Amino acid sequence: MSTLWHGRFEGDPAEELMAYTASIGFDVRLAPDDVAGSRAHVRMLGRVGLLSDSEVDVVLAALHQTETELASGDFEFAPSDEDIHTAIERRVTELAGAAGAKLHTGRSRNDQVATALRLFAKRELAAMAADVIALQQVLLDRAASAGDAYLPGYTHLQRAQPVLLAHHLLAHGWALSRDVDRLADARTRLDVSPLGAGAVAGSSLPLDPDMTASDMGFAARFENSMDAVSDRDFAAESLFASAMVAIHLSRLGEEIVFWTSEEAGFATLDDAYATGSSMLPQKKNPDIAELARGKAGRIIGNLTGLLATLKGLPLAYNRDLQEDKEPLFDAVDQVRLGVRAMTGLMATISFNTDAMAAAADAPTSAATDLAEHLVADGVPFRDAHAIVGDLVRRSLEGAASLADLVRADPRLGETAAALLAPGVPVTRRTTPGGAGPHAVAAQIKRFRAQLDADATRF
Ligand code: ARG
Repeated sequence: MSTLWHGRFEGDPAEELMAYTASIGFDVRLAPDDVAGSRAHVRMLGRVGLLSDSEVDVVLAALHQTETELASGDFEFAPSDEDIHTAIERRVTELAGAAGAKLHTGRSRNDQVATALRLFAKRELAAMAADVIALQQVLLDRAASAGDAYLPGYTHLQRAQPVLLAHHLLAHGWALSRDVDRLADARTRLDVSPLGAGAVAGSSLPLDPDMTASDMGFAARFENSMDAVSDRDFAAESLFASAMVAIHLSRLGEEIVFWTSEEAGFATLDDAYATGSSMLPQKKNPDIAELARGKAGRIIGNLTGLLATLKGLPLAYNRDLQEDKEPLFDAVDQVRLGVRAMTGLMATISFNTDAMAAAADAPTSAATDLAEHLVADGVPFRDAHAIVGDLVRRSLEGAASLADLVRADPRLGETAAALLAPGVPVTRRTTPGGAGPHAVAAQIKRFRAQLDADATRF
């Protein structure tokens, strides 16, 4: 077997070594990124005079063919291909002969692999942001068409105050806006090329890392070769940004599980976005929502796993760093699948607005409005709270309905009792950012503007 280091070693590597250390099984998906990095590197080697123009052409043609073979599935992997970088260089050398053997001039897999993973992360974070924006668009559409539908707003999962359905949906939408911002921010910080750092210290050859950086579309090149090959902050940040999306999906998922339960009955899933039971014929289950909740745990594990891998590493490259890839790949795959599944679910779910209203119309939902009515008459809030609390307690004890107690109370009376009528309390949430119709209409405008601005960021 011909390894990249065969000159220094006698005989072949042990089978167990290859089985344990090879990463080809998962880093094959970095092929397009490795090819992009290799192209930039070869062009740079040509421009600084380390390869002739014809050598550059031969290597670029070999890279093109290798890329085509990889994309079509015709690429034949060799037992010595421990990772995709080794495989591509091996094939290019087979195809381009002596010129191909110059591809790795001044380069190490240490800077090569860091470069490829950054290119991958740059692309995937942008794609994830686009997926998130599509989910936000659905939340916005559903909010805009929800009209004056309202449901209980909960604290401690106890009914607190009615809120417009649009307000509730956009609460999830705004959380996702911060995710888009985080993805953009992480992407800006990772937009630095490590290529040209070599194994650890740079090179005696006249390499031009600025040239390769701009060739690959990076905003900058590294400032320190040791940092360039050992930094995986970008992978950890990408994982955190992904994990935060996963957590937001999980919280939305939990909402859906609750809303679609027979106990709440606030929403019904479209058949295409629900599952049945193998045994119980009547069941319709919210599996997407539950997996959004369940997979968040795994994605958090990907983040904490990588952080633990990084924490004790001395500078610069250590093979431990190969453990950066699987968690990142898994997180971006699972988050993107989850966002897209939830987008379809939210686009097709039907809201049972009568059940929502019925749950929100319990007279006690207006308790705060009664207290605020007293405040408007000059009663200190603490006293108003006690007065209304006393009426609520008496109605719960069965003295009379809350409405009758309110009507009979000289401090409250008929005008106050009118606040208990179905649909009235939510109209009284008038403050900016509040849950009532005027505030929500303004919020929808601002959300739409934010979404339009975010769509142009990537
Ligand atoms: N597959 C390796 C990785 O992902 C490539 C770098 C190997 N470098 C080395 N010095 N052994 O990190």
